[in-house]
Amino acid sequence: MTEDAIWASQLTKTYGPLTAVDHVDLRVPEGGIFGLLGPNGAGKTTIIKLLTGLSEISGGEARVAGFDVRRDPMEVKQRIGWVAAEVILDDDFSAWENLWLQARLQRLTDWQERADELLAYFSLEGRKKDKVGTFSTGMRKKLEIALALLHKPKVIFMDEPTIGLDPGTRRMLWELITGVNREYGITIFLTSHYIEEADALCHQVAILNRGRIVALGTPNDLKSRVHADFLEIDTREPLDEARLKALAGVQQVRTQGTTWILKVSAAEEVLPRLFAAVDPGQIRRINVEKPSLESVFIDLTGQRIDEAGGEVHDFRKFYANVRRARG
Ligand SMILES: Nc1ncnc2c1ncn2[C@@H]1O[C@H](COP(=O)(O)OP(=O)(O)OP(=O)(O)O)[C@@H](O)[C@H]1O
Ligand SMILES: [Mg+2]
Repeated sequence: MTEDAIWASQLTKTYGPLTAVDHVDLRVPEGGIFGLLGPNGAGKTTIIKLLTGLSEISGGEARVAGFDVRRDPMEVKQRIGWVAAEVILDDDFSAWENLWLQARLQRLTDWQERADELLAYFSLEGRKKDKVGTFSTGMRKKLEIALALLHKPKVIFMDEPTIGLDPGTRRMLWELITGVNREYGITIFLTSHYIEEADALCHQVAILNRGRIVALGTPNDLKSRVHADFLEIDTREPLDEARLKALAGVQQVRTQGTTWILKVSAAEEVLPRLFAAVDPGQIRRINVEKPSLESVFIDLTGQRIDEAGGEVHDFRKFYANVRRARG
């Protein structure tokens, strides 16, 4: 029997009064792609830091690549790679020099052949001697993944690998991630707050909210759990809640000020009734959410993933936004 690449039981992290990771159980089989999906502040990065030994575990246990993270952190570190969300490349160094630096950091001796192989795999061999400062965002991301793979890890952790990338580059990266998983047999643990990303890439997804796993399964499993559509409506003034609830096909009404979330049997049947019951002039925006990972999150929390986290609270995000703004 092969051991799980990642296993955690009741994993917990507290920062003073805050429980950032709250009794999380995880199992990722060898060779799997696992996605942790959740809003800002849900605890995604903290879980990666716990599993990679960068942050001390407050409670529970974790094993990664066959070793206990608390007891054998060095064994774990030798077998994992990490692609951080922030830029880690040195712009004034060439691609090759960045690989050299990584080899030094990892104390690798025979790394050149592997480095050439990775550059070829990521179609960067022609840019080997060019300074990374001249690379496009997609090329940088490829090189970051190459660095993480240099020491032949069994598991790689990717914290929001596509944050701040344009849709085309994001798709290119999805293909690379799937390829690395398939061709190198590496287990991939990634975090994201992009629904489509988790859906497209991951064999298993855990939805995290406020440090807790609120749903776990394959993307299809999760989607099939919600037998409803959601109508999200912004209005100019509060509506009569009782009237909304009374509409045929409406299963549940949730509200936050002038935003209403209606759980309905079928959107196309309920919309005409809604327009008949509510003055259309009151409606500023309607969004229809068919069963998706987003609707799973809405069903569980009453919020959308991108709305649940609140303000941009960390420097890394700020940095990614600056990069995106620069293009
Ligand atoms: N070093 C720290 N000290 C205190 N609180 C922290 C620390 N690191 C994280 N937190 C808090 O723990 C919670 C989880 O943070 P974490 O960075 O894991 O979230 P995240 O899901 O990665 O969010 P994002 O999508 O914004 O990256 C947040 O409330 C955050 O403010
Ligand atoms: Mg994070």
